[in-house]
Amino acid sequence: MRVVVLEDESAVADAVAAHFASLIRRKPDAVLGLATGGTPVGAYQRLIELHRRHGLSFRQISSFNLDEYLGLDEDHPQSYRRFMNEQLFDPIDIDKNRTRVPPGRPDDIRTACQRYEDEIVAAGGIDLQLLGIGRDGHIAFNEPGSSLASRTRCTTLAATTILDNARFFGSEDLVPRAALTMGIGTILDARQILLMATGSGKAEAIAGSIEGPVSSRVPGSALQLHPDVVVYLDAAAAHRLEYLEYYLESERTHRSLGLLPFP
Ligand code: F6R
Repeated sequence: MRVVVLEDESAVADAVAAHFASLIRRKPDAVLGLATGGTPVGAYQRLIELHRRHGLSFRQISSFNLDEYLGLDEDHPQSYRRFMNEQLFDPIDIDKNRTRVPPGRPDDIRTACQRYEDEIVAAGGIDLQLLGIGRDGHIAFNEPGSSLASRTRCTTLAATTILDNARFFGSEDLVPRAALTMGIGTILDARQILLMATGSGKAEAIAGSIEGPVSSRVPGSALQLHPDVVVYLDAAAAHRLEYLEYYLESERTHRSLGLLPFP
């Protein structure tokens, strides 16, 4: 796992966008795994800038989002499909037919979940999967207790997640209780995973994910089992890491050896 600690939220957004842009330039038809929530918004804004000012093209890109609230129509103000359209897809030149978000109102939940898995495979698998992390260590909507081998399925939101996401809905009561989400096993199939976290509220989840035991108690800890994970953190999200000095030194060493492709 490569752990990159940067000064602040803005530097994290720059690094994540640069990482995506580098892949897109190398592989214009890459398959991206995308996340919603507050954390990636700055990185998406930078990608939009790179498209507008530097001609970064998404024309051949395909994408799969991690999750969607169950019961929300695509045009619901808080649906993740609408979030992606507004925060990234509408302002860039991506073909929306090649963007996938799990359905919020599937006819049949199990069929829809299997179809999502099948579509990822048919697209050739995900090249780069972006993740945020919940305060309770969830990745996508895989809450504590989720199987580390789980696949796309319907999950129940944990109480902390309902509380945290109430800020988007205006009230806890309005937050849907269930979601369709890629499983941890689905996420681990991506060729490379990029986890980003900012703010001290994420520090414990980050320490548990990077340095804690691999356990369903902290779903993010499953990332320790993947061979190619890059974690971008601001100083606040990194402050509970026991081996922080080591990660900083490791970055310096790799940089001096010319071994760092990013940022
Ligand atoms: C979003 C997702 C979630 C968020 C997590 C952090 O698609 O799957 O796991 O990444 O809840 O959310 P924010 O970024 O709002 O703190």
